[in-house]
Amino acid sequence: MNLDLKEEPKPVTDALKSKIEETSEPLIFAPKTYQYDKATLTHDDIQSIQDPIELFHNWFNNATSTSSDPIPEATTLSTASLPSGRVSSRVVLFKELDHRGFIIYSNFDTSKKSKDVKSNHYAALNFFWKDLQRQVRVEGIVEFVDRATNERYFGTRPRGSKIGAHASPQSQVLKGDRDQLDNLYKEVEKKYEGVDDSEIDCPKLWGGIRIVPLEIEFWQGRKSRLHDRYSFKRETIEDKFECVRLAP
Ligand SMILES: Cc1cc2nc3c(=O)[nH]c(=O)nc-3n(C[C@H](O)[C@H](O)[C@H](O)COP(=O)(O)O)c2cc1C
Repeated sequence: MNLDLKEEPKPVTDALKSKIEETSEPLIFAPKTYQYDKATLTHDDIQSIQDPIELFHNWFNNATSTSSDPIPEATTLSTASLPSGRVSSRVVLFKELDHRGFIIYSNFDTSKKSKDVKSNHYAALNFFWKDLQRQVRVEGIVEFVDRATNERYFGTRPRGSKIGAHASPQSQVLKGDRDQLDNLYKEVEKKYEGVDDSEIDCPKLWGGIRIVPLEIEFWQGRKSRLHDRYSFKRETIEDKFECVRLAP
């Protein structure tokens, strides 16, 4: 573990406190309120399914078939780096569900998420399907998927995305305008000239992580902010889930 003291959490300083007070004249204040009244999530719904992965599967199918969201698989992935505890979130595409967990693909070489998950194996996903007034929160443990799984998904990507994955040192600083990136892309494009799409190999440090859930919460918006919330929780990934209703 990297014990860089510069990374230690800092207390809120007086200078920061006075900045907080300055927000007494906010730029945006209380945008128009919105009511959630489209559906319910009941004890019977939960009893009839019991398995949170199955319930997620149903909700995801609803999101893809009945909502106008063009990318219902877009999800917010949060990670935190240790020892600082600094948290980072970004949108990624959820690509696979299996009975073990939720898989997303990314660069695990140069990205911030790569550094985070190597120091702290906890991560969270947040799905928000506005049309359905539904949120799903997943918290769990990160594991890297095997090479065969990476290659299976990489094989489905269009040629340009395959080349892009090789070319882009994700989240590294680029000098100048887009040129550096375009040149990196051109170099890789040249390397694979004449190579069939199916023969473009998956970069070594590019691939999937599976978030194996310790907790999955299903949230259905209800009137007057009295939302339905059911949370499936377990202590370790070997345990069975227990389901509880949470107050909104
Ligand atoms: C709709 C959308 C989908 C995205 N999908 C992915 C993805 O599947 N994988 C990925 O690495 N980055 C994806 N990104 C980019 C990430 O949000 C982020 O910029 C990138 O992963 C670098 O983040 P990091 O340095 O914090 O790790 C997506 C962004 C958006 C807005």
